[in-house]
Amino acid sequence: MDIYDAIHRRRDVRGEFTGAPIPRDVLYRVLEAAHAAPSVGLSQPWDFVLVEDPAIRRAFHDHVQSERAAFAATLAGAAAERFARIKVDGILESSLSVVVTYDPERGGPAVLGRHAIADAGLYSVCLAVQNLWLAATAEGLGVGWVSFYREPHLRGLLNIPETIRPVAWLCLGPVTHLESVPDLERHGWRRRRALDTAVHRDRWRKPAG
Ligand SMILES: Cc1cc2nc3c(=O)[nH]c(=O)nc-3n(C[C@H](O)[C@H](O)[C@H](O)COP(=O)(O)O)c2cc1C
Repeated sequence: MDIYDAIHRRRDVRGEFTGAPIPRDVLYRVLEAAHAAPSVGLSQPWDFVLVEDPAIRRAFHDHVQSERAAFAATLAGAAAERFARIKVDGILESSLSVVVTYDPERGGPAVLGRHAIADAGLYSVCLAVQNLWLAATAEGLGVGWVSFYREPHLRGLLNIPETIRPVAWLCLGPVTHLESVPDLERHGWRRRRALDTAVHRDRWRKPAG
């Protein structure tokens, strides 16, 4: 698959996982792609926790459901009705979960390029996630990023040390298909903005509208 095809075919998947196993060689190609991401000071501050244990996934799913309810309680009227129809995770249906973490001490104490912008370490982890996401798309797999959780809860569930930050819980696996339009757009929650509204020339200008 051409890189632009992968970029434009990629979707956040919740409802289309089949649960079929991921061949080991495919999984490792996807993880190698994530591990090949650029990182500030070549710190490679990520780790990947592969979660197969159904009991852990069930416990996390229960937590996500309670966070979903907490968010739903902040909504009213049409937004509440729209949100009620939106699925926010495929934790139980997907084949595997991959939790991507950030270690701010990796490559320290003098991480080249991070002295002025502490978040550069976190940006690096997000690039690993995006590499994983695109590689998975090229392999015909789906990925769903779940962020309806509290970090201390996830740390406790996976024995992640205090100094390490969980950045993403990713649901991964074969899918029936990838939708051509994002779920949130299909459900009328929000629409994508046109590129023109995101491009500024020479100086920041408040976007029109
Ligand atoms: C940092 C991050 C967190 C996200 N968290 C969730 C989530 O908890 N549940 C969910 O259903 N989608 C989540 N998404 C997916 C977005 O809703 C999705 O990327 C967006 O609607 C655009 O759709 P697309 O990825 O299919 O293009 C997350 C995406 C990102 C980048």
